[in-house]
Amino acid sequence: MAEVIFNKLEKVYSNGFKAVHGIDLKIAEGEFMVIVGPSGCAKSTTLRMLAGLETISGGEVRIGEKIVNNLAPKERGIAMVFQNYALYPHMTVRENLAFGLKLSKMPKEQIEQQVNEAAKILELEELLDWLPRQLSGGQAQRVAVGRAIVKKPDVFLFDEPLSNLDAKLRASMRIRISDLHKQLKQSGKPATTVYVTHDQTEAMTMGDRICVMKLGHIMQVDTPDNLYHKPKNMFVAGFIGAPEMNIRASRLVDKAGQLCLSIGDEAMPLNDRLRDKAFAHLGQEVFYGIRPEFVELSDEPFAGGCCSGEMVRVENMGHEYFIYLRVADYELTARIPSDKAKPMIEKGLHRKVWFTFDMSKCHLFDAKTEQNISL
Ligand SMILES: Nc1ncnc2c1ncn2[C@@H]1O[C@H](COP(=O)(O)OP(=O)(O)OP(=O)(O)O)[C@@H](O)[C@H]1O
Ligand SMILES: [Mg+2]
Repeated sequence: MAEVIFNKLEKVYSNGFKAVHGIDLKIAEGEFMVIVGPSGCAKSTTLRMLAGLETISGGEVRIGEKIVNNLAPKERGIAMVFQNYALYPHMTVRENLAFGLKLSKMPKEQIEQQVNEAAKILELEELLDWLPRQLSGGQAQRVAVGRAIVKKPDVFLFDEPLSNLDAKLRASMRIRISDLHKQLKQSGKPATTVYVTHDQTEAMTMGDRICVMKLGHIMQVDTPDNLYHKPKNMFVAGFIGAPEMNIRASRLVDKAGQLCLSIGDEAMPLNDRLRDKAFAHLGQEVFYGIRPEFVELSDEPFAGGCCSGEMVRVENMGHEYFIYLRVADYELTARIPSDKAKPMIEKGLHRKVWFTFDMSKCHLFDAKTEQNISL
C-alpha cells in the first residue's frame, strides 16, 4: 500500500531532448490513476521513471514514504505490465506465473498459494498447464497481468496493456482490470495503479482520476466527469470525448444590446452564465466549444435564437446519427437520436436547417491562452 508522488519530475534524454517538463502529481493510496495523451506526450517516459527503468533528470519520485529516484526496480514494490508482454514460450502458464517468485527465492508452498490465488482472480485455473502458444490473445494477456498480481506489489503499472487486442477483447479486459482493482480494495489490500493509455475510452471508463498530458506537460488532473464537463483548456476539451467537441473560432458581439457568439454571419445569444463570464472578453477572439450531443437541429428556426447551416453528411450509428453541418467556413457535428434524425434526413441532404446549442453546456476559450474562461 502506497501513495505515489511526482515532485517537479523532469526527463532530459541523452540527446538533449526534454521529454518531461517538471510535472507534479499526487496519486492516492489505492487510487486508479490513468495517464492519457497523444503519442509522444511522454506517458511511457513518465511511467518508466516511476518503475526505475529510466533515469530521472530532475525532481523526485516518491512511493510511500521513500524517495525512490536511486532505487532499482525490484526495490520499489512495483509490478509492470507492458503492451508487448512476452511469456516464456517453453513454460506452462503456471511456470510463467511462478517464475518471478522463484527468482526471489520464495518458499515453494507460498509460490503455489500465490499462483493459485492469481489464477482464480483472473480465471486462469483451467489454463495452468497450457503453453503460451495454445492461448488466445486475451488469455495470454491475462497471464501477463497474472505475473504482475502474484508479486503482490504496492503499485501496479500498466503501459498500454490492451493495445494489441481487438476491440471486443479490449472491452472485456478493461472490465477485468477494473474489477481486479476493486477486489483488491475490498479485500483490504488496495493497490495503487498507474495505467497509461492513448485511448480516451479506456481512460474514462477505468480511471478514478485521469491525468491528461501534452508534450511532457500535465494539462489537467481530474475525475472523468470533470474532464468531460469542465475541461480547463481547449486541449483537454478536444481530447476527451468521441465524437470530438466542436471547437470553433468566434467573436463575442453585441447584437441589439445582447451579448452573442458570432457564427459565420449569424449570432447565437449567450445565456446569463456565459454572458457574465464573457463580458470581460467583449470584442475579443474566443473559441466556443459544444459537444455534438448538445447541438439541436430543426427544419424550422428555434424560438430562442439560432443559426443556420447546410446538412452535408450523415453517419448512421443505429441508435443515433452524426449529422454534419456546413456553417460558414467550417463544419459542425450534431449527434441526434435516430427517431428525431430520420424525418430530417428523409427530406434529403444539402438543404438549409437550423441549429441551436444547449448553452448550459457550451464552453468559451480564450483564443490566446486556450484556457476555458467559462468555468
Ligand atoms: N531514448 C530516447 N531518446 C530521445 N528521445 C526519446 C527517447 N525515448 C523517447 N523519446 C522522446 O520522448 C518523447 C516522449 O516519448 P514517450 O515514449 O514517453 O511517449 P508516449 O506518450 O509514451 O507515446 P506513445 O503513445 O507513442 O507510446 C517523444 O518525443 C520521444 O520521441
Ligand atoms: Mg508509450
